Amino acid sequence: MILFMSVPSASLGQILITREQIEQRVTEIGQQLADDLTAELVAEGEDALSHPDRIVLVPIMTGGMVFAADLIRHIPIKLSLDVVTVSSYPGAATESKGAKLKGSLPKNLAGRHVVVIDDILDSGQTLALIRELVNEQNPASFRSCVMLDKSERRVADISADYAGFQIPDEFVVGYGLDYNGFYRNLPDIVALAEHHR
Ligand code: IMP
Ligand code: MG
Repeated sequence: MILFMSVPSASLGQILITREQIEQRVTEIGQQLADDLTAELVAEGEDALSHPDRIVLVPIMTGGMVFAADLIRHIPIKLSLDVVTVSSYPGAATESKGAKLKGSLPKNLAGRHVVVIDDILDSGQTLALIRELVNEQNPASFRSCVMLDKSERRVADISADYAGFQIPDEFVVGYGLDYNGFYRNLPDIVALAEHHR
C-alpha cells in the first residue's frame, strides 16, 4: 500500500520497521506480558481469567493507541483498559516541549497491576510523569511497554520494561506516531526525510 499524503514541510523517507516486523514483535511482547501478568496473579492465588479486576492497561493517547489496540489482542487474560492523554509535541514540533497531562489519570489504580503503553520512549519525560502519577496511587506493580525506544535521547531516568525495537535518533512516523497530527495511520514505521526541527 502506498499512501500519498501531503503534509507541509515534511516528506517521508525510508521505512525503518515493516508491518511484518511489527506484527511479529507485538505477538512476542503480548505473550511475554501475558506470562508475566499471569505469574503475578498466580502468586496472589488468583486465576488469569477470573481474577477480580486486578490488571489494568493504560494506553497513552494519542500515539499509543495503535500499538495498544494490536497488543491487547495478544494478551489472552482478563484485563481492563483505561486511557490517559499526554501532549509533548504540540503542532509541528519534533523536539519535546515537556510532557503535559491532558485531562486526568485513571483514579482506581491502587493495589492493581498497571501496564502503561506508549508508542515511543524518547526523552522519557512522558513515561516519567505517568510513572510518578501512577505510583502516587500505590499500584501493586507498574510496568511500561513501548513499541520504540530511542535510548540515546533519554533525559529522564527511566527505561521501558518491554520495548519492541531500539531505533536511532531519527524522527519517525506511522503506527500511531505523528508529525503535526498526520501519518499515524501508516502501517509501517517510517523516517521523516525533511522537516523543521
Ligand atoms: P518523551 O516524553 O520525549 O519520551 O516522548 C514521548 C512522546 O513523544 C511519545 O509518546 C511520542 O508521542 C512523541 N515522540 C517522540 N519521538 C517521536 C518521533 O520520532 N516521532 C513521533 N513522535 C515522537
Ligand atoms: Mg505520544
